[in-house]
Amino acid sequence: MSAAAAITARPPAREFGFEPADHRAISKMVYDELGILLPDGKAQLVYGRLAPRVRACGLESIGDYIKLIERDTDERARAFDALTTNHTSFFRESHHFDDFCERMWPGLVERLNKGGRVRLWSAACSSGEEPYTWLMAALGSDRAAAQKLLKRDVKLLATDVSPSVLETARAGRYTAATLRTVPSALHKAWVRGQGDALSVDPMLREAISFLPLNLLGEWPIKTRFDTIFCRNVMIYFDEPTKARLQARLADRLEVGGMFYIGHSERLAPEVGKRFECVGRTAYLKVAA
Ligand SMILES: C[S@@+](CC[C@H](N)C(=O)[O-])C[C@H]1O[C@@H](n2cnc3c(N)ncnc32)[C@H](O)[C@@H]1O
Repeated sequence: MSAAAAITARPPAREFGFEPADHRAISKMVYDELGILLPDGKAQLVYGRLAPRVRACGLESIGDYIKLIERDTDERARAFDALTTNHTSFFRESHHFDDFCERMWPGLVERLNKGGRVRLWSAACSSGEEPYTWLMAALGSDRAAAQKLLKRDVKLLATDVSPSVLETARAGRYTAATLRTVPSALHKAWVRGQGDALSVDPMLREAISFLPLNLLGEWPIKTRFDTIFCRNVMIYFDEPTKARLQARLADRLEVGGMFYIGHSERLAPEVGKRFECVGRTAYLKVAA
């Protein structure tokens, strides 16, 4: 559907003016900054997500809001925050965690116990369900053993471009419904609280560094990782952006490390040469 059609197909009940040119201007800003594609058919979604910001700023149209975010970087960040899609869940695409626990974790534990270091990265972690799942799955329900291991040189970096989801991730507070996909033994070991006031155990929260990072920008990251999860974000990018990002992530991964991507995502052919596909959307890095 064209922007004009997407905009005019709705009943004329919009609170704020929204022209096809406004949608194009927002799409360009979001693409240039975040790499996210917002084609014409997403016009209603864009309106729905920005309307609360337009209201909060006391403006009368999306056009006025665009003028504001062109000069106000804080408000622009809020607009981008509103426009990201943050859907996630505990144990999403859970065979990736099974694969990591079988293929990678025993060797990494051995390395930790010999005084070595382990680095893991959840890139585009959203509100934290993915990195918390990762740690729960790897550590299992033996809290004493987990505590001992977490004192070793193991770090899990979890990054996202959206400040609001990172806030939720750092707080580690979730509803019972959100936590319902956590297996009961792990729930018992790692979830605190009652009713709907539940939170992830501080031992897990403290083991994860949640940091803001735009995957398209500069990365102040020097380390190489033993495993990277980068799932369900590349679906929003075009092919050249996906290929560039995958190549950069591959550069940050140790040979012998694992790279997990979302179920509907694929490796670009030139990046795929550096990996062996060892499971569904699970790739072992075999060449530098
Ligand atoms: C659908 S969620 C996926 C979360 C998790 N990886 C999963 O698979 O459940 C996509 C996340 O990507 C983030 N994102 C979008 N564009 C980004 C960018 N350019 N840099 C970093 N994160 C980005 C969004 O903020 C959102 O939290």
